[in-house]
Order: sequence, then C-alpha cells, then structure tokens
Amino acid sequence: MRERKVKCGVVGCGVVANEAYFPAIVEKGELVATCDKIEERARRSMELWGAKEYYTDVDEMLRKANIEAVFILSGMGMHADHATRAARAGKHVLIQKPLATTMRDARKVFNAIKKAGVKALVEPNVQMNPLYLKAKSILEEGTIGEVYWFRAGLGRGPPTWGEETFFTRQAGGPLFDLGVYQIAALTFLLGPASSVTGMAKISIPERFIVPEEFFTEHLSQKPYEPFWKKLATAKPTKRIKMEAEDNTFTLLSMRSGSLGCVIANFVTPDGLRNGVGNMPDIEIYGSDGALFLGGSAAISVMTKRKDSKYYSPEGWYCIPKQDFPSWNYYRASTEHFFNCILNDEEPLPSLEWGMHVSEIMIKSIQSSRTGNRLRVLSSFKWKGESVEC
Ligand SMILES: NC(=O)c1ccc[n+]([C@@H]2O[C@H](COP(=O)([O-])OP(=O)(O)OC[C@H]3O[C@@H](n4cnc5c(N)ncnc54)[C@H](O)[C@@H]3O)[C@@H](O)[C@H]2O)c1
Repeated sequence: MRERKVKCGVVGCGVVANEAYFPAIVEKGELVATCDKIEERARRSMELWGAKEYYTDVDEMLRKANIEAVFILSGMGMHADHATRAARAGKHVLIQKPLATTMRDARKVFNAIKKAGVKALVEPNVQMNPLYLKAKSILEEGTIGEVYWFRAGLGRGPPTWGEETFFTRQAGGPLFDLGVYQIAALTFLLGPASSVTGMAKISIPERFIVPEEFFTEHLSQKPYEPFWKKLATAKPTKRIKMEAEDNTFTLLSMRSGSLGCVIANFVTPDGLRNGVGNMPDIEIYGSDGALFLGGSAAISVMTKRKDSKYYSPEGWYCIPKQDFPSWNYYRASTEHFFNCILNDEEPLPSLEWGMHVSEIMIKSIQSSRTGNRLRVLSSFKWKGESVEC
C-alpha cells in the first residue's frame, strides 16, 4: 500500500523556500498552498511548484486551505508569530531557524505548540547530520577527555537581500542567521548551556542590498533556475539601515563544565575559508586532546590516548571532507518531518532544543545591551535526561 502524502502549505516564498524546500516538499509530500505577503511571489511559486492555491495572508491560508502541515520560511523575526498561528489552527510546523528572536515570542510559540499537541521541527537539523553524529561519537568515546573550552564561528559578509528577513531589530542579524548553526552544533555535541554573556555592536550602520523585485522577477522564469549565480550579477542598489547588531560575541558556560565563545558577524571579508585562512569552524579542547570541525579536513582529532583509534603518532588524525558527501539538511528535515507526522513520532530537532538555542541567542543580545551575565533556563533531552522548559 502506498503511504499517503502530507498536505502542506508554505509561509514565505522567498529564496530558501524556492531553492531548498519546495523541491523537497514536491518530492516527498503534497504541496497544496503557497503564501507570501508579496502576491507575485506567492502566485509564481504556486505555478512553479504545482501548488493548488496561493494566499497573501497567513490566517486566510490556515482557515481555507486543506493542509495539515505548514513550513514557516518567512523572516527570522516572524517565525514565532507564524508558527503560533499555525499551531493554534492545529497544523504541524517545520520552522526555519530561529524559533524566535525575543523571549516573549519564544514562550508564546512554545506554549502554543505544546497546547496544540502538533509536531514541531526546528531548524537547523544538526541531529541527523552524519558529520555531527561522527563528531559526537568521537567525543563520547572520551577521545579528548574532559572538555574544557571551545571556539566556534568566524563571520562573513551579509546576505545581499531580505531587509526585513535579516537586518531589522526584530529579525536579529548575524547571531540568529549564522551563529545559530554553531550554537545548534555545540549544544548537540556538548549539551545545554547554563549561562551566557554577550558583547555586540553595530559596526556598519548602513548597507546596500538587492531590491526585493529582483528575486520576485527571478520567479517569473520557468522552470526555476538556481538563484545564487544570478544574485552575484545583481546590483545592490537599495540602501538599508542595520538595526540589528552586526558584530557579535557570545560567551557560553555549559552545564557539563566547559566554557567557550561563538563569533557571528556580517563584517568579515568573504572567502576566508579558502587558502591561507582555512580555519576550522568549531574547535573543542579537552584534557586529552582536541577536536576540530571544518578547515582543511572534515574532522581533525588530536589525542594523547594511545589506546584510542584516533591516536596518531604524527599528532592529528584527520577525516577527509570526501568522507562526508554534502548533506542537504532541508531535504533531510522535510522527509523526517513527514515521517514524524505519518508515524506519530517526535522530530529529532525538537521544540525544546530549538527553544534552548533561541534562548541562548536572545539572551546573548540582551546581555550585550544590559551588561549582565544571564542564566539560560530552558533545556532539552540530554543523555537520556529530560529537563522541563
Ligand atoms: N536563503 C538561504 O539560503 C537560507 C538558508 C538557511 C536558512 N534561511 C532562513 O530562511 C528564512 C527565509 O530566508 P530567505 O533567504 O528565504 O528570505 P527571503 O527574504 O528571500 O524570504 C522571506 C519571505 O517571507 C515573506 N514574508 C514576510 N512576511 C510575511 C508575512 N507576514 N506573510 C507571508 N510572507 C511573508 C517575504 O515577502 C519573503 O518573500 C530566514 O529565517 C533565513 O534565516 C535562509
């Protein structure tokens, strides 16, 4: 018997929806409705990906469309509101990162989803990524001993589109756009954080981005063509104000005892990852060695433990990048989300974990504005222990 397909609606028909999620949804599910406040984006996305209906208002889509799941792919500061509305309408939700950019919104969406009892998958999905699973197993084998400290993130130039999506105070800026990946990975590898201190500022108060019409126009071309190449030829002519901190440092104290720093900004030259600047994305140091993610290898391990299978007399044991073929988290999440709905299982990138990641980022920015170190109160299932939010 063929398994039924999950009927879906999508809120936010922008770059990530068209580049990543629509292809995954039409492959594994049933795309029923598109929704964007820019009517042409909603309509053109519907036509491009074979949906039945389009909407410009989220509530109208939730009321009228025959859907059971909603993909929340709008701007970073809107996810919580859109997901709250969807959950209250009884729909399962896949939420792009971050879950929320204020604690008020985070609590609201968390409670709405819990009350509705719907499935919620919060991106970015690190829990199923073979790279992080391998790194986690290396750490859990005690290869580097007790973890003492870590450094993660680097920064890069800003996106060149999406004023409301990335740059407003409500959207949150690079910590929520880039730092979220490292905080997601670190909490998966090392467990929950207990407190956070942030230091952040706006270093470049004005930017130029590509006008919204450029992407809307791109959607008039059939079939859909990858956007990135075209974006590189576009002129950033729209002047915008940077309302969110574009240069951020987050100091974390983890419940398991280690301390570390996450760097996220829009003020670093692009391309540093190549050539001489081939820096790891995450470095973790312990009593018996160190583990790096990214840089010249996928994973690099140094251990003093001669009985470890990662011990190398030359120093570093490197797992090459080709051992981890590119992994599409959007596709993996979409399929996992559908399976969880169909089989009544809980998504691995859970609501509790998404809440914890967002609380860290929100409190980092809060701390940078107030000068206080802040406790992180939420938690998630870690080593079999479940802690209430
Ligand atoms: N672009 C990427 O490569 C990428 C990768 C990973 C994650 N993300 C995340 O995905 C989300 C969207 O990013 P994007 O690059 O697609 O941005 P985008 O600006 O291209 O798309 C966002 C869309 O949401 C729409 N929207 C805004 N308010 C709305 C409302 N009230 N109702 C309906 N639609 C509304 C906008 O009109 C826009 O079309 C962000 O949270 C971003 O962090 C993007």
